This record gives sequence, structure tokens and C-alpha cells, in this order.
Amino acid sequence: MQDKRRIIAGNWKMYKTPKEAVGLVQALEDRLDMIAGNISDIEIIVCPPFTDLKSIYTVLWQDKPPIKLGAQNMHWEDEGAYTGEISPLMLKDLECEFVILGHSERRQYFGETDDMVNKKVKAALKHRITPIMCCGESLAQREAGETQSFIQSQVLGGIDGLTANDMKSFMIAYEPIWAIGTGKTAHPEDANDIIGYIRSVLASKFGDEIAKGVPILYGGSVEAGNIADFMAEPEIKGALVGGASLDADSFAGIIKNARKQ
Ligand code: PGA
Repeated sequence: MQDKRRIIAGNWKMYKTPKEAVGLVQALEDRLDMIAGNISDIEIIVCPPFTDLKSIYTVLWQDKPPIKLGAQNMHWEDEGAYTGEISPLMLKDLECEFVILGHSERRQYFGETDDMVNKKVKAALKHRITPIMCCGESLAQREAGETQSFIQSQVLGGIDGLTANDMKSFMIAYEPIWAIGTGKTAHPEDANDIIGYIRSVLASKFGDEIAKGVPILYGGSVEAGNIADFMAEPEIKGALVGGASLDADSFAGIIKNARKQ
């Protein structure tokens, strides 16, 4: 069943105030109304900043559009003296069903390690929040031929101690760092190969059947004009979209073009 599903998730990063966020979600609802019946097999997720979650939750609760809510990060503890942090319980209270974990910007600018990502993944699963765990190589790693070994260690580090059952509510986003926000995408066939490799890493731990059921998304400069090429690849189940998710027309365009042709 998961195999037919496509997932388009918007990562708003540190953009949009609460007022702007409401405007964006309402504009997105209008655009989705226009393409309604055609997108029933696409799961649409928006991951705004923490401060926008409450206002978006209110809009989604009132309007009931086919949009689900996710966060961009969280702490692994339920509560505690962790100034500036947000816990899974807080996200759960706002009906956050997803959380992006281990995004390369978190790893690069905030020192997140695989071990921290692993703790966060476990905490998300404990609270029934689906992790969208990110992995991806830098340009230097790619040029040194280290893409697979690096991604393998990120993935195995992030899923350490998880069970096959945990994989039923789990997603991975492959985002090559050099493609994020640069306008340079990975070649769809290359992305497909690496995503196939990630699936083989999952299969080596949990077996083929379980690995097949885990949606793996591509991220990095996805837009309405290139999404169809990624969706045409068999291993790619959706996209994690940054810049192009900040505008209702461009995000709706991606959703529209992500439909099965
Ligand atoms: P981008 O970002 O679409 O702007 O390249 C993707 C991401 O960082 O998730």
C-alpha cells in the first residue's frame, strides 16, 4: 500500500512569521482545491518553524485540507531543563504527525551527530511521530568517491537499535548537500541509484519486504519543473522541498506534477 503513496513535504526552514504562515497555508489550500481529485494518492506535509505550528494547526483544524503538519526538529526528552528546545510531547499536542530529523543544516550549523539523530528518531517513534530522517553527502565526499560509505554510516547510525516494526512508520530523505538551495539537482537516475542503495542498507538490517515499505524521498532544488523526472524513478517515493515550498503556486505546482503520469 505504501508503494503507491507519494509524499511531498515542504521544509520551510527559518522562513515565515506566524501571520505569513497562515497566509501561505490558506493560499495553498486554494490551489489544492483546484487540483483536488487528482492528488488523492499524494501525502502533503508542511514543516514550518515551531512558532508557526499553533497558527497552522488552527487553520488545518478548521478547514480540514489534505495537508499534514510536521516539525523541522525536536529534542529527544519529553521535558526538562533544556533551554530553547522543543519536545515531542509539545509537537504531539499540536497534531504534528511528522518531524524532519538530522537535516544537513542541523548537522552543519548546530553540531547534530548521528547519535543525537538516533535519540531523536527513537523519541519520535515512541510518541508516534513519523521521523523524516535526512542523509546526504557533501560535494567533497562525492568527489572523493565516499558517497555510499558516508550515507551508509549516517543511515546505520540513525536507525541503530530500531526494530522492523519501527520501519513501518519511518521515512528517509536523501538530500545531497551540494544540491540544497543551489539550483543544482542530482541527476534523477543518480538519485534513484543512491536511494536504491539506501534501501539495500535497510534491507541488510530488516530484510527486503520491510525495506521496500519505507518511503525514501529526494531533496535538493526540487521545483515544479523537475519533480516529474524524480517521480518517474522507481525508488523515489516523494520529495522534501525547501525554497519552492515557500510559495503557494510553486508548491502546488510540485504537488500537481508529482501525480502519476
Ligand atoms: P531546497 O532545500 O529545496 O531549497 O534545495 C531542500 C531541503 O533542504 O530540504
